[in-house]
Amino acid sequence: MNKPLTPGHIQSYVDRLEESAVRPECRSCDCFQGLLTQLDLDCPEAAGTVGPLKVSREEMHGCLGCNPCPPGELFTEYLRRKSESAAPEERGGEKSGEEVRETVREEYGKIARESGSCGCSSSCCGSAATPQSVASAVGYGETDLAELPEGANMGLSCGNPTALASLEPGEVVLDLGSGGGFDVFIAARKVGPTGRAIGVDMTADMVAKARRNAESFRESTGLDNVEFRLGEIEHIPVADSSVDVVLSNCVINLSPDKPQVWREIARILKPGGRVAVSDLALLRPLPDAVRESATALVGCVGGAALVDETRETIRAAGLTEISLEPKSGYIESMTEWSDPLYREIAANLAPGTKPSDYVTSLNISASKPETERSAS
Ligand SMILES: C[S@@+](CC[C@H](N)C(=O)[O-])C[C@H]1O[C@@H](n2cnc3c(N)ncnc32)[C@H](O)[C@@H]1O
Repeated sequence: MNKPLTPGHIQSYVDRLEESAVRPECRSCDCFQGLLTQLDLDCPEAAGTVGPLKVSREEMHGCLGCNPCPPGELFTEYLRRKSESAAPEERGGEKSGEEVRETVREEYGKIARESGSCGCSSSCCGSAATPQSVASAVGYGETDLAELPEGANMGLSCGNPTALASLEPGEVVLDLGSGGGFDVFIAARKVGPTGRAIGVDMTADMVAKARRNAESFRESTGLDNVEFRLGEIEHIPVADSSVDVVLSNCVINLSPDKPQVWREIARILKPGGRVAVSDLALLRPLPDAVRESATALVGCVGGAALVDETRETIRAAGLTEISLEPKSGYIESMTEWSDPLYREIAANLAPGTKPSDYVTSLNISASKPETERSAS
């Protein structure tokens, strides 16, 4: 009997496989049959489908070794590709990775153009919060905020990774999902003229806004050490082993492929480099109604991972010295400010529970070992 196999399931099989003791050479499509057994998946050969994901008999045979699909391809990559290209009805209604990114890109494009719309945080219509009050609530000091280009803080943060990072003059810092450049500008002052602060964002309107902000930053500070690149955090447009510190503020939850993001972080960090990330994470699984809501996705809640899953994903990417510190204050502030997103979330939770029972802001620190080693 087949088990239903949605992209969520596939991701979890892929994660388990990558974290398992299965030797890399045994992760090929040729070893598909063995892997099905090892991963406790039922063999789909008879039905020709794996749950709602249709895999033709021919492809199955290819993967069973009669006609290897394509030579040398990894089973995990094969499943990912298959899941990405499947029609929505085959995927049990779940969005593909590209569809998730498109929804996120569209909504954050609007936020960049209109400023003040609802995004990852509460500074939007119907809320008592302002970008300033959100930033203060998550730990930014008055000096940091006073020295920013106007509009760089859009109230989209859920922590203060620049404080977590203990940045030093001369360091190269990269901010994933840099928005209007909020943390990039704060980091640029800390690393000074001998350092560099680079922002990466996949939303063209955000990058355009950040580049305009960079002009006024240069004029007011005389510093010429910031740069904004258009790109996805799943494919970071930065060279291997070139960055001292990776920052990110309320972004990784939005990615449909978090293991890939963490592998990219491990790739671009210099040996001994470190990570300082603030994000939203889950203390327990969300009800389906919240997880599937587009507002909750764009609001940085619907796509958030469990805290323990996050730790495993970071470890599997090869990073060490992992520290995860949940901070309940952010979610409580959002609820107190009567944020529309958190009102909607609260309405869909089990009676007697509140958003902060499910969601937390999480400070994440980790390092890349001085000597590279394989995670498997
Ligand atoms: C909640 S906002 C945070 C912005 C900024 N970090 C801040 O604190 O102001 C999320 C940002 O991440 C970007 N983003 C989301 N998913 C991304 C992805 N997969 N690759 C690159 N950028 C992404 C969005 O375009 C948006 O600018």
